[in-house]
Amino acid sequence: MINKIGIVGGGNIGGVLAAEIVSRRLARNVALVDVKGPDMAAGKCLDIAEAMPVYGSDVNIVGAKTYDILAGCDFVINTAGVPRTMRPDGTYPSRDELLAINLKITDQVADGINKYAPGAFIISIANPLDAIVYRLYKKINKCNPKRIMGMAGVLDSARYKYFVAEAAGVSVENIEAVVLGGHGDTMVPIRSACRVYGLPVEQFVPAKKLDAIEDRTRNAGGEVVKLLGSGSAFVSPAISALEMVEAIAFDKKKIVPVCALLQGEYSVKGLFVGVPCVLGKDGIEKIIKIKLTSEESAALKKSVAAVKKTCAEVDAAK
Ligand code: APR
Repeated sequence: MINKIGIVGGGNIGGVLAAEIVSRRLARNVALVDVKGPDMAAGKCLDIAEAMPVYGSDVNIVGAKTYDILAGCDFVINTAGVPRTMRPDGTYPSRDELLAINLKITDQVADGINKYAPGAFIISIANPLDAIVYRLYKKINKCNPKRIMGMAGVLDSARYKYFVAEAAGVSVENIEAVVLGGHGDTMVPIRSACRVYGLPVEQFVPAKKLDAIEDRTRNAGGEVVKLLGSGSAFVSPAISALEMVEAIAFDKKKIVPVCALLQGEYSVKGLFVGVPCVLGKDGIEKIIKIKLTSEESAALKKSVAAVKKTCAEVDAAK
Protein backbone atom coordinates (compact mmCIF):
# COMPACT_ATOMS: atom_id res chain seq x y z
CA MET A 1 0.00 0.00 0.00
CA ILE A 2 1.21 3.48 -0.86
CA ASN A 3 1.43 5.93 2.03
CA LYS A 4 0.15 9.05 0.28
CA ILE A 5 -1.01 10.12 -3.17
CA GLY A 6 -1.57 13.78 -3.99
CA ILE A 7 -3.82 14.91 -6.81
CA VAL A 8 -3.61 18.44 -8.13
CA GLY A 9 -6.79 19.54 -9.88
CA GLY A 10 -10.02 18.16 -8.50
CA GLY A 11 -12.11 18.40 -11.64
CA ASN A 12 -13.41 15.48 -13.66
CA ILE A 13 -10.19 13.46 -13.78
CA GLY A 14 -9.13 14.39 -10.24
CA GLY A 15 -12.50 13.27 -8.89
CA VAL A 16 -12.32 9.87 -10.60
CA LEU A 17 -8.74 9.43 -9.40
CA ALA A 18 -9.65 10.12 -5.77
CA ALA A 19 -12.67 7.81 -5.81
CA GLU A 20 -10.76 5.04 -7.58
CA ILE A 21 -7.83 5.20 -5.16
CA VAL A 22 -10.28 4.83 -2.26
CA SER A 23 -12.12 2.02 -4.03
CA ARG A 24 -8.85 0.12 -4.67
CA ARG A 25 -7.44 0.99 -1.20
CA LEU A 26 -4.34 1.97 -3.11
CA ALA A 27 -3.04 4.51 -0.58
CA ARG A 28 -3.48 5.19 3.13
CA ASN A 29 -3.79 8.92 2.46
CA VAL A 30 -5.14 10.96 -0.43
CA ALA A 31 -4.77 14.74 -0.75
CA LEU A 32 -6.72 16.63 -3.40
CA VAL A 33 -5.81 20.26 -4.22
CA ASP A 34 -8.03 22.52 -6.29
CA VAL A 35 -8.15 26.30 -6.27
CA LYS A 36 -11.86 26.36 -7.13
CA GLY A 37 -14.18 27.88 -4.53
CA PRO A 38 -15.87 27.79 -2.26
CA ASP A 39 -13.84 24.70 -1.45
CA MET A 40 -14.51 22.25 -4.26
CA ALA A 41 -11.73 19.82 -3.36
CA ALA A 42 -12.90 19.59 0.25
CA GLY A 43 -16.44 18.99 -1.00
CA LYS A 44 -15.38 16.20 -3.38
CA CYS A 45 -13.33 14.52 -0.67
CA LEU A 46 -16.18 14.72 1.84
CA ASP A 47 -18.50 13.15 -0.72
CA ILE A 48 -16.04 10.30 -1.34
CA ALA A 49 -15.33 9.86 2.40
CA GLU A 50 -19.03 9.49 3.11
CA ALA A 51 -19.10 6.55 0.70
CA MET A 52 -16.24 4.79 2.49
CA PRO A 53 -18.47 2.71 4.78
CA VAL A 54 -20.11 1.42 1.60
CA TYR A 55 -16.78 0.86 -0.18
CA GLY A 56 -15.57 -0.79 3.04
CA SER A 57 -12.43 1.25 2.71
CA ASP A 58 -10.58 3.27 5.37
CA VAL A 59 -8.57 5.92 3.59
CA ASN A 60 -7.70 9.31 4.99
CA ILE A 61 -8.86 11.69 2.28
CA VAL A 62 -8.40 15.45 2.48
CA GLY A 63 -9.21 18.22 0.03
CA ALA A 64 -8.13 21.86 0.13
CA LYS A 65 -7.45 24.97 -1.92
CA THR A 66 -3.86 25.10 -0.69
CA TYR A 67 -0.88 22.96 -1.62
CA ASP A 68 0.36 22.32 1.92
CA ILE A 69 -1.77 19.18 2.12
CA LEU A 70 0.65 17.60 -0.38
CA ALA A 71 3.25 17.24 2.39
CA GLY A 72 4.62 13.70 2.51
CA CYS A 73 3.18 12.55 -0.82
CA ASP A 74 4.90 9.62 -2.53
CA PHE A 75 3.10 10.42 -5.79
CA VAL A 76 1.65 13.62 -7.18
CA ILE A 77 -0.73 13.32 -10.11
CA ASN A 78 -1.22 16.60 -11.95
CA THR A 79 -4.53 17.32 -13.67
CA ALA A 80 -4.64 21.09 -13.11
CA GLY A 81 -5.57 23.28 -16.02
CA VAL A 82 -8.27 25.15 -17.80
CA PRO A 83 -10.02 23.81 -20.89
CA ARG A 84 -10.68 25.74 -24.08
CA THR A 85 -14.09 27.12 -23.16
CA MET A 86 -16.01 30.08 -24.47
CA ARG A 87 -15.47 33.37 -22.67
CA PRO A 88 -18.48 35.39 -21.42
CA ASP A 89 -18.09 37.64 -24.50
CA GLY A 90 -18.58 34.66 -26.80
CA THR A 91 -14.94 34.45 -27.99
CA TYR A 92 -12.50 31.59 -27.45
CA PRO A 93 -8.94 31.99 -26.18
CA SER A 94 -6.36 31.30 -28.89
CA ARG A 95 -4.12 28.26 -28.60
CA ASP A 96 -1.25 30.53 -27.47
CA GLU A 97 -3.37 32.29 -24.86
CA LEU A 98 -4.54 28.96 -23.51
CA LEU A 99 -0.99 27.64 -23.38
CA ALA A 100 0.12 30.74 -21.49
CA ILE A 101 -2.69 30.31 -18.93
CA ASN A 102 -1.96 26.62 -18.47
CA LEU A 103 1.77 27.23 -18.10
CA LYS A 104 1.05 29.71 -15.29
CA ILE A 105 -1.06 27.06 -13.58
CA THR A 106 1.72 24.51 -14.12
CA ASP A 107 4.23 26.86 -12.49
CA GLN A 108 1.98 27.02 -9.42
CA VAL A 109 1.85 23.23 -9.36
CA ALA A 110 5.65 23.07 -9.61
CA ASP A 111 5.96 25.57 -6.73
CA GLY A 112 3.63 23.43 -4.62
CA ILE A 113 5.64 20.30 -5.36
CA ASN A 114 8.93 22.08 -4.63
CA LYS A 115 7.62 23.30 -1.30
CA TYR A 116 5.65 20.34 -0.04
CA ALA A 117 6.40 17.18 -1.99
CA PRO A 118 9.99 17.30 -3.23
CA GLY A 119 11.12 13.92 -4.52
CA ALA A 120 7.61 12.58 -5.12
CA PHE A 121 6.93 10.64 -8.31
CA ILE A 122 5.12 12.98 -10.66
CA ILE A 123 2.62 11.78 -13.21
CA SER A 124 1.18 14.59 -15.27
CA ILE A 125 -2.06 14.29 -17.21
CA ALA A 126 -2.88 17.94 -17.93
CA ASN A 127 -2.90 19.10 -21.54
CA PRO A 128 -1.13 20.02 -23.70
CA LEU A 129 0.53 16.93 -22.27
CA ASP A 130 4.03 17.12 -23.75
CA ALA A 131 4.36 20.83 -22.99
CA ILE A 132 3.10 20.65 -19.42
CA VAL A 133 5.31 17.78 -18.34
CA TYR A 134 8.30 19.55 -19.97
CA ARG A 135 7.47 22.74 -18.03
CA LEU A 136 7.12 20.83 -14.76
CA TYR A 137 10.50 19.23 -15.33
CA LYS A 138 12.07 22.65 -15.92
CA LYS A 139 10.43 24.23 -12.87
CA ILE A 140 10.85 21.46 -10.31
CA ASN A 141 14.08 21.72 -8.33
CA LYS A 142 16.62 19.00 -9.10
CA CYS A 143 13.95 17.03 -10.90
CA ASN A 144 14.97 13.41 -11.38
CA PRO A 145 13.94 12.43 -14.94
CA LYS A 146 13.21 8.88 -13.78
CA ARG A 147 10.57 10.21 -11.41
CA ILE A 148 8.63 12.53 -13.69
CA MET A 149 6.45 11.36 -16.58
CA GLY A 150 3.40 12.17 -18.59
CA MET A 151 0.41 9.90 -18.96
CA ALA A 152 -0.70 9.71 -22.56
CA GLY A 153 0.58 6.52 -24.15
CA VAL A 154 -1.28 4.21 -21.79
CA LEU A 155 -4.55 5.85 -22.78
CA ASP A 156 -3.75 6.22 -26.49
CA SER A 157 -2.71 2.55 -26.59
CA ALA A 158 -5.83 1.51 -24.68
CA ARG A 159 -7.96 3.28 -27.27
CA TYR A 160 -6.07 1.56 -30.09
CA LYS A 161 -6.51 -1.82 -28.34
CA TYR A 162 -10.20 -1.24 -27.78
CA PHE A 163 -10.85 -0.41 -31.43
CA VAL A 164 -8.80 -3.40 -32.64
CA ALA A 165 -10.59 -5.76 -30.24
CA GLU A 166 -13.94 -4.49 -31.47
CA ALA A 167 -12.96 -5.00 -35.12
CA ALA A 168 -11.39 -8.42 -34.52
CA GLY A 169 -14.35 -9.56 -32.44
CA VAL A 170 -12.13 -10.74 -29.57
CA SER A 171 -11.50 -9.74 -25.97
CA VAL A 172 -9.51 -6.58 -25.26
CA GLU A 173 -7.30 -8.86 -23.16
CA ASN A 174 -6.07 -10.55 -26.34
CA ILE A 175 -4.70 -7.33 -27.81
CA GLU A 176 -1.16 -5.98 -27.52
CA ALA A 177 -0.75 -2.52 -29.00
CA VAL A 178 1.33 0.58 -28.48
CA VAL A 179 1.10 4.20 -29.52
CA LEU A 180 4.27 6.32 -29.48
CA GLY A 181 5.22 9.97 -29.96
CA GLY A 182 3.45 13.13 -28.87
CA HIS A 183 -0.04 13.23 -27.42
CA GLY A 184 -1.67 14.97 -30.35
CA ASP A 185 -2.85 14.18 -33.81
CA THR A 186 0.73 13.24 -34.79
CA MET A 187 0.83 10.31 -32.37
CA VAL A 188 2.00 7.05 -33.93
CA PRO A 189 0.06 3.80 -33.49
CA ILE A 190 2.63 1.07 -34.15
CA ARG A 191 0.91 -1.49 -36.36
CA SER A 192 4.04 -3.62 -36.64
CA ALA A 193 3.88 -4.21 -32.87
CA CYS A 194 0.12 -4.79 -32.73
CA ARG A 195 -0.76 -8.39 -31.92
CA VAL A 196 -3.94 -10.36 -31.41
CA TYR A 197 -3.20 -13.35 -29.20
CA GLY A 198 0.45 -12.94 -30.17
CA LEU A 199 -0.34 -13.07 -33.89
CA PRO A 200 0.03 -10.22 -36.40
CA VAL A 201 -3.03 -7.96 -36.28
CA GLU A 202 -3.46 -8.12 -40.08
CA GLN A 203 -4.53 -11.75 -39.65
CA PHE A 204 -7.66 -10.49 -37.87
CA VAL A 205 -8.34 -7.02 -39.21
CA PRO A 206 -7.92 -5.95 -42.86
CA ALA A 207 -5.35 -3.23 -43.60
CA LYS A 208 -7.99 -0.71 -44.71
CA LYS A 209 -9.89 -1.11 -41.46
CA LEU A 210 -6.61 -0.71 -39.54
CA ASP A 211 -5.98 2.57 -41.36
CA ALA A 212 -9.37 3.78 -40.15
CA ILE A 213 -8.75 2.51 -36.60
CA GLU A 214 -5.38 4.25 -36.40
CA ASP A 215 -6.96 7.45 -37.63
CA ARG A 216 -9.71 7.12 -35.04
CA THR A 217 -7.06 6.52 -32.35
CA ARG A 218 -5.26 9.74 -33.28
CA ASN A 219 -8.53 11.66 -32.96
CA ALA A 220 -10.11 9.67 -30.13
CA GLY A 221 -9.85 12.46 -27.56
CA GLY A 222 -11.71 14.84 -29.87
CA GLU A 223 -14.38 12.25 -30.59
CA VAL A 224 -15.22 12.05 -26.87
CA VAL A 225 -15.14 15.85 -26.51
CA LYS A 226 -17.68 16.21 -29.32
CA LEU A 227 -20.04 13.66 -27.82
CA LEU A 228 -19.80 15.04 -24.29
CA GLY A 229 -20.61 18.57 -25.33
CA SER A 230 -18.51 19.98 -22.53
CA GLY A 231 -15.25 18.79 -20.99
CA SER A 232 -13.08 15.92 -22.17
CA ALA A 233 -12.48 12.24 -21.41
CA PHE A 234 -12.02 11.71 -17.70
CA VAL A 235 -12.49 8.07 -16.70
CA SER A 236 -9.97 6.56 -19.12
CA PRO A 237 -7.19 9.09 -18.35
CA ALA A 238 -7.59 8.55 -14.59
CA ILE A 239 -7.53 4.76 -14.85
CA SER A 240 -4.54 4.92 -17.20
CA ALA A 241 -2.56 7.07 -14.75
CA LEU A 242 -3.28 4.58 -11.97
CA GLU A 243 -1.79 1.80 -14.09
CA MET A 244 1.46 3.77 -13.98
CA VAL A 245 1.17 4.41 -10.23
CA GLU A 246 0.63 0.70 -9.55
CA ALA A 247 3.52 -0.37 -11.82
CA ILE A 248 5.88 1.85 -9.80
CA ALA A 249 4.42 1.27 -6.32
CA PHE A 250 4.39 -2.51 -6.70
CA ASP A 251 7.73 -2.59 -8.55
CA LYS A 252 6.08 -4.49 -11.38
CA LYS A 253 8.78 -3.82 -14.01
CA LYS A 254 5.88 -3.39 -16.37
CA ILE A 255 6.50 -2.09 -19.88
CA VAL A 256 4.09 0.71 -20.66
CA PRO A 257 4.23 3.66 -23.04
CA VAL A 258 5.23 6.71 -21.02
CA CYS A 259 5.88 10.32 -21.94
CA ALA A 260 9.49 10.29 -20.75
CA LEU A 261 12.50 12.58 -21.00
CA LEU A 262 14.65 11.28 -23.83
CA GLN A 263 18.38 11.75 -23.55
CA GLY A 264 19.52 10.37 -26.88
CA GLU A 265 17.09 7.44 -27.15
CA TYR A 266 15.22 7.37 -30.46
CA SER A 267 17.74 10.10 -31.51
CA VAL A 268 15.91 12.67 -29.36
CA LYS A 269 17.52 14.80 -26.65
CA GLY A 270 15.84 16.93 -24.01
CA LEU A 271 12.21 16.37 -24.98
CA PHE A 272 9.40 14.40 -23.36
CA VAL A 273 8.07 11.91 -25.89
CA GLY A 274 5.90 8.81 -25.61
CA VAL A 275 8.08 5.67 -25.67
CA PRO A 276 7.86 2.22 -24.06
CA CYS A 277 9.41 2.22 -20.60
CA VAL A 278 9.94 -0.29 -17.82
CA LEU A 279 8.17 1.10 -14.74
CA GLY A 280 9.33 -0.16 -11.36
CA LYS A 281 10.26 1.08 -7.90
CA ASP A 282 12.74 3.63 -9.28
CA GLY A 283 10.21 5.04 -11.72
CA ILE A 284 11.34 4.91 -15.34
CA GLU A 285 13.93 2.15 -15.00
CA LYS A 286 14.60 1.61 -18.68
CA ILE A 287 13.54 2.99 -22.03
CA ILE A 288 12.84 0.22 -24.52
CA LYS A 289 13.90 0.64 -28.11
CA ILE A 290 11.57 -1.02 -30.58
CA LYS A 291 12.24 -1.69 -34.21
CA LEU A 292 9.98 0.42 -36.37
CA THR A 293 9.17 0.19 -40.05
CA SER A 294 10.50 3.06 -42.16
CA GLU A 295 6.99 4.54 -42.32
CA GLU A 296 6.60 4.38 -38.54
CA SER A 297 10.07 5.94 -38.04
CA ALA A 298 9.15 8.80 -40.35
CA ALA A 299 5.84 9.32 -38.53
CA LEU A 300 7.64 9.34 -35.18
CA LYS A 301 10.11 11.92 -36.48
CA LYS A 302 7.19 14.11 -37.51
CA SER A 303 5.57 13.70 -34.12
CA VAL A 304 8.82 14.57 -32.32
CA ALA A 305 9.10 17.69 -34.49
CA ALA A 306 5.62 18.74 -33.32
CA VAL A 307 6.62 18.20 -29.67
CA LYS A 308 9.81 20.18 -30.25
CA LYS A 309 7.83 23.09 -31.65
CA THR A 310 5.50 23.20 -28.63
CA CYS A 311 8.42 22.95 -26.21
CA ALA A 312 10.11 25.88 -27.98
CA GLU A 313 6.91 27.87 -27.28
CA VAL A 314 7.13 26.77 -23.64
CA ASP A 315 10.74 27.92 -23.43
CA ALA A 316 9.77 31.26 -24.94
CA ALA A 317 6.93 31.77 -22.44
CA LYS A 318 7.90 33.41 -19.18
N1 APR B 1 -4.09 24.51 -8.82
C1 APR B 1 -4.93 23.47 -8.62
N2 APR B 1 -5.97 23.21 -9.40
C2 APR B 1 -6.21 24.03 -10.42
C3 APR B 1 -5.40 25.16 -10.70
C4 APR B 1 -4.31 25.39 -9.84
N3 APR B 1 -3.47 26.43 -10.01
N4 APR B 1 -5.89 25.78 -11.78
C5 APR B 1 -6.95 25.10 -12.19
N5 APR B 1 -7.16 24.03 -11.37
C6 APR B 1 -8.23 23.04 -11.42
C7 APR B 1 -9.54 23.61 -11.89
O1 APR B 1 -10.18 24.37 -10.86
C8 APR B 1 -10.33 22.35 -12.28
O2 APR B 1 -11.18 21.90 -11.26
O3 APR B 1 -7.97 22.00 -12.35
C9 APR B 1 -9.21 21.32 -12.54
C10 APR B 1 -9.26 20.73 -13.93
O4 APR B 1 -10.42 19.97 -13.99
P1 APR B 1 -11.38 19.90 -15.28
O5 APR B 1 -11.51 21.24 -15.89
O6 APR B 1 -12.60 19.16 -14.88
O7 APR B 1 -10.52 19.04 -16.32
P2 APR B 1 -10.33 17.46 -16.37
O8 APR B 1 -11.34 16.88 -17.27
O9 APR B 1 -10.18 16.91 -15.01
O10 APR B 1 -8.93 17.40 -17.15
C11 APR B 1 -7.76 17.91 -16.55
O11 APR B 1 -6.31 16.69 -18.03
O12 APR B 1 -6.82 15.40 -19.91
C12 APR B 1 -6.40 16.64 -19.44
O13 APR B 1 -7.19 18.15 -21.14
C13 APR B 1 -7.37 17.74 -19.82
O14 APR B 1 -5.84 19.47 -19.22
C14 APR B 1 -7.01 18.80 -18.81
C15 APR B 1 -6.64 17.99 -17.56
